[in-house]
Amino acid sequence: MIEVSSLKYQYQNNDSQTINDISFDIQKGEVFGFLGPSGAGKTTTQKIITGLLTNYEGDIRIMGKNRSDWGRDFYEKIGVAFEFPNLYMKLTAIENLELFLSYYVNKNDDLDMLLDNVGLLAYKKKKIEDFSKGMKVRLNFIRAIQHNPDIIFLDEPTSGLDPVNANIIKQYIKRLKCEGKTIFLTTHNMGVATQICDRVAFIVDGKLRAIDNPKNLMLQYGKREVAIEYIEKKKVIKKYHAIDGIGENSEFLDVLKNNEIKTIHTSEATLEDIFIKVTGRSIQ
Ligand SMILES: Nc1ncnc2c1ncn2[C@@H]1O[C@H](COP(=O)(O)OP(=O)(O)O)[C@@H](O)[C@H]1O
Ligand SMILES: [Mg+2]
Repeated sequence: MIEVSSLKYQYQNNDSQTINDISFDIQKGEVFGFLGPSGAGKTTTQKIITGLLTNYEGDIRIMGKNRSDWGRDFYEKIGVAFEFPNLYMKLTAIENLELFLSYYVNKNDDLDMLLDNVGLLAYKKKKIEDFSKGMKVRLNFIRAIQHNPDIIFLDEPTSGLDPVNANIIKQYIKRLKCEGKTIFLTTHNMGVATQICDRVAFIVDGKLRAIDNPKNLMLQYGKREVAIEYIEKKKVIKKYHAIDGIGENSEFLDVLKNNEIKTIHTSEATLEDIFIKVTGRSIQ
């Protein structure tokens, strides 16, 4: 759905390149996450692909067609939720949706259902100036998808949300994926990336440092150990053993046979550990 190759971008008033030769593909039905610290170039990349920034170098193809060959119909195919909701404060929730929808050919006759999906139906006639941050973010999210786009760009979709609201958005993203939508999100939240992304790309200083499925990354860079807690002489003992050769590890096997086991689990690195290992940088 999205093919980016050798993308470079420099802001006019900057003396160095913000995007330094990045390449990646996003498949149909995939939730793809750009993961990186603040200032890495996540938003810039999305702005280039969605057409807010031009004068880039490199190739971008969307649904097989060169980015620059798309006309206005491009905006029917994509939905964009910016990090900072740009809603009309004096209008109500439903008026905001209707106004934005009027720019599209694709119509949606069930805005109530969309509002209900994010817990906002009861507030449809409330003005945005009376909305909390979490309510604005949720409304901004459904505004981005209300014309039923095939590709959805979400810039920090759970930023500033409490865990309950963040969960509503995460579940909604999974549901859109099940409907066959392609989702390109940015985040500096490792939990979000681990929970909902099929693949993540680590971005630092406008360069991609790794692209893979979070599980593969964790297996590749994790320690591959088993942590076991057991009781010995009324005390809880915790030991780590390498997974490789565990079947012949007599110490481990003896404990399994002879002791009461409290917990046993494989220990994989978190995505955060791996980010630091791969990029040499902290995500925060
Ligand atoms: N309008 C702009 N003009 C000049 N530099 C910018 C502009 N917007 C962003 N930048 C710079 O580009 C870099 C990447 O920014 P951005 O893409 O917003 O990062 P992220 O979304 O990963 O936090 C930062 O160093 C930022 O200061
Ligand atoms: Mg950003």
